Amino acid sequence: MDKQLEALQKAFDEDIAQARSEKELDQLKVRYLGRKGELTSILRQMGSLDPKERPRIGGLSNKLKVYMENAFDLRVKDLEKTHVVKGVDVSLPGRMPGKGGVHIVNQVLSEIEDIFINLGFRIVAGPEIEDDYHNFEALNIPAHHPARDMQDTFYFSEDVLLRTHTSPVQIRVMESEGLPVRIIAPGKVYRCDSDVSHIPMFHQVEGLWVEEGITFAHLKGVLYSFLHTFFGPDVPIRFRASFFPFTEPSAEVDIGCIICKGRGCRVCGNTGWIEILGSGMVDPAVYGFVDIDPESVTGFAFGLGVERVAMLKYCIDDIRLFFENDLRFLNQFS
Ligand code: DAH
Repeated sequence: MDKQLEALQKAFDEDIAQARSEKELDQLKVRYLGRKGELTSILRQMGSLDPKERPRIGGLSNKLKVYMENAFDLRVKDLEKTHVVKGVDVSLPGRMPGKGGVHIVNQVLSEIEDIFINLGFRIVAGPEIEDDYHNFEALNIPAHHPARDMQDTFYFSEDVLLRTHTSPVQIRVMESEGLPVRIIAPGKVYRCDSDVSHIPMFHQVEGLWVEEGITFAHLKGVLYSFLHTFFGPDVPIRFRASFFPFTEPSAEVDIGCIICKGRGCRVCGNTGWIEILGSGMVDPAVYGFVDIDPESVTGFAFGLGVERVAMLKYCIDDIRLFFENDLRFLNQFS
């Protein structure tokens, strides 16, 4: 019996030294001191002992029981002091912060910028809070002109507004830098509008190239180059006559629907074509607002919607997804 008790203490010492959590200690307690525990089962054999031996072995067993109970208490305190606090192992690795990525709109913007930089364009920025003069007046859109209704404007006051397009940057650059200019102006624009294909804030890239001898052929060449680089060399492109107050002649540019490959679908309204940008030769009236002699130069301008081309390139069917910040959407592009 002495030997059994001794062996039990030894095993107990080893086990308790290895316990790493309160849970493990509880399990050990059941194993050694529980109703069917190891010490209890030894005590059950007392009846078979020589009566003279019983008090001594009883005393030893009791001592071992007290020893074990103390050891449990000490070990719990030990664990609390080190790394296990009330069932939480603070030494476990924490939740790592997620890895960030560049937003899909910014990725597409960078791609567009790179293409135009390679075509010799310079990037400029303009203010998002604009005045009526630069956003409308100097772009040949006078007060009460019906073209103002095309764009639902957010006004701060009669004269101050959130720009509805990036075209005012054309005016600012020609005012401040003179000629020649060959720029693109990427940035945010604002319109009071919201549904599957419209949101109150979106991005445009404006382009302007004004220099002696620039013709519509340059406009076509630049836009073909851009579209073939961005959408691939096989994308069908067509120019369609249109109207903008600040360009004459004006054209809208369509590409063959990426979704149905031109067969006709919901996205392209069964036409097989999708409009992606507006463009044209700078209207002589615009030069008048920036003190440039319209007889001395010619130029072209264009404006394209960034979310729109991103939606086509990545087959995204709802423009609102870009700004809901749902990680399941954003992570697909990181
Ligand atoms: N500013 C126009 C819009 O937001 C887009 C546009 C059309 C820009 C023709 C241009 C252009 O520079 O030439 O709808």
